[in-house]
Amino acid sequence: MTQPVVASTRGELADVLAEARRSGSRIALVPTMGALHEGHASLMARARAEVGTDGRVVASIFVNPLQFGAGEDLDRYPRTLDADLKLCEREGVDVVFAPALDGVYPGGEPLVTVSPGPLAEVLEGQVRPGHFRGVLTVVAKLFGLVRPDLAVFGQKDYQQLALIRRMVRDLCLGIEIMGAETVREPDGLALSSRNRYLDADQRQAAVALSRALVAAQAHASYGVPAARWAAMSVLRAEPGLDVDYLALTAPDLGEAPEVGEGRILVAARVGTTRLIDNMPITFERSVQKAGTPVGSTTSERSS
Ligand code: PAJ
Repeated sequence: MTQPVVASTRGELADVLAEARRSGSRIALVPTMGALHEGHASLMARARAEVGTDGRVVASIFVNPLQFGAGEDLDRYPRTLDADLKLCEREGVDVVFAPALDGVYPGGEPLVTVSPGPLAEVLEGQVRPGHFRGVLTVVAKLFGLVRPDLAVFGQKDYQQLALIRRMVRDLCLGIEIMGAETVREPDGLALSSRNRYLDADQRQAAVALSRALVAAQAHASYGVPAARWAAMSVLRAEPGLDVDYLALTAPDLGEAPEVGEGRILVAARVGTTRLIDNMPITFERSVQKAGTPVGSTTSERSS
């Protein structure tokens, strides 16, 4: 295994990618904020699978202050560069771009930023105003610095992925965006850099997020209200959780269809840690008999 080249300035990045550009090798970018785990590793593996051994996989590690609001966890966000580099090496990453703050924002906060539009006003955007402006601005900068052919993002941050796709389309950036499936712990908890904040009790409470989504999937054949009820029952039964939102939507985050493919998304706080998760869900027409209250469980229905 060869160690990745670590570029910590724009100049170093340009130098290390010059040869790849000359030879026409495809370049894949995996943007991260570090504190890497197997979810990030899966994106790197996907990037390698896409560009092959002749291509170059670039992972960026940069905790982007522009996407953190006042009172959020910017200062305590885990920074684990040595371990991150080992994971990148294991995944065969060619280049790690780990710039300092002024490498990305040389003049301080940029005057021109990406306006993410209405999709950033809902869900995460409603709870974290300005968050997606910060995300899209730094992703646009990383695209400009790395100039990749493709970039890989996780479905774990579903709204982020949708907004990045939309930015690439609306601003004609010409970069292929791949969305990789969420990697989970054996009990279903989605891997997250923030999971390391959780103590044992909180870790136990946190698994209710994915359990709620699975419960909704299991009830989706009875329609949207039943799916919502099933998820809310799981969430309400967990006193350690403070739910920010539970949303059932279309795959593009528009209104959920009565029948067909959709998405279910949840955000909750466990102590001071904020966690998000989402899953695909297929709604079917309600098969409830007349008189059966919406939201009954399967067992209630059959008894
Ligand atoms: P970060 O939270 O470090 O996530 C980097 C990438 O890893 C994102 O695309 C995210 O969706 C993906 N990811 C996180 N957990 C995952 C999991 N369990 N399974 C699969 N993929 C997972 O998202 C960001 O950083 C930042 O907003 C960034 C895009 C880097 C811009 O600063």
